[in-house]
Amino acid sequence: MLGTWESDPLGEGEFPTIPSFCYMEKAVISHVGQPMLNFTFCASNPETGKPLHRECGFIRVKPGTSQVAFICAQNIGVVEVEEGEVQGEQLTLTSHSLSRMSFAKEPYVQQISRTFRLTPEGKLEQTVSMATSTQAMAPHLRVTYKKVTS
Ligand code: HEM
Repeated sequence: MLGTWESDPLGEGEFPTIPSFCYMEKAVISHVGQPMLNFTFCASNPETGKPLHRECGFIRVKPGTSQVAFICAQNIGVVEVEEGEVQGEQLTLTSHSLSRMSFAKEPYVQQISRTFRLTPEGKLEQTVSMATSTQAMAPHLRVTYKKVTS
C-alpha cells in the first residue's frame, strides 16, 4: 500500500439519501521507520479542485497476526478506530469505536466498513459503506487508485 496514489478513474459516491457524485482523491501512504503506516486521503471536486473530505491516521498490525487496526481522523469532525484482517491482497475493516464533535452535522455516521484491495494490475481499490442515524448500512464510496510515486 506504500506510495502516492490518485483515483483513476474518478471515485464514485452514493448513498440512499443523497444524489450520486464523482470525486478525485489523492492517497499518500508512508512510514517513518516505525512499525505502522501513516496515511492521508484527500478528496476534491474533479472539476474545480475544491478540497472536500479529508482523512488522516495510522494503520497498525498486531505483531505476529493478520489483525489490523485503522486509526482515522476525518475533517467532518469524526474520529474512529476500525479493526479487521488482511486476507491475501484484501484488508477488510469495521469500526468498533467512533466519536464526533458536539456540533457535527446530522445525520450522524454510526458505523463504517471499508475494504482495501491490491489488484493483480498493481492498482489499489477502496470501498466504504456506512450506517447513519437515518439509514442502515449502505455503500457510500468506491474508488480505484493508480500509483503515481512509490
Ligand atoms: C454525505 C459520511 C467520505 C462526499 C455524507 C453523509 C455522511 C457522510 C454521514 C450524509 C449522508 C446523508 O445526508 O444521509 C462520510 C464518511 C466518510 C465519507 C464517514 C469516510 C469514511 C466521503 C468522501 C467524499 C464524500 C471521500 C468525497 C468527496 C460526500 C458527499 C455527500 C456526502 C458529496 C453529500 C453532500 C453532503 O451532505 O455533504 N457523507 N463521508 N464523503 N459525502 Fe461523505
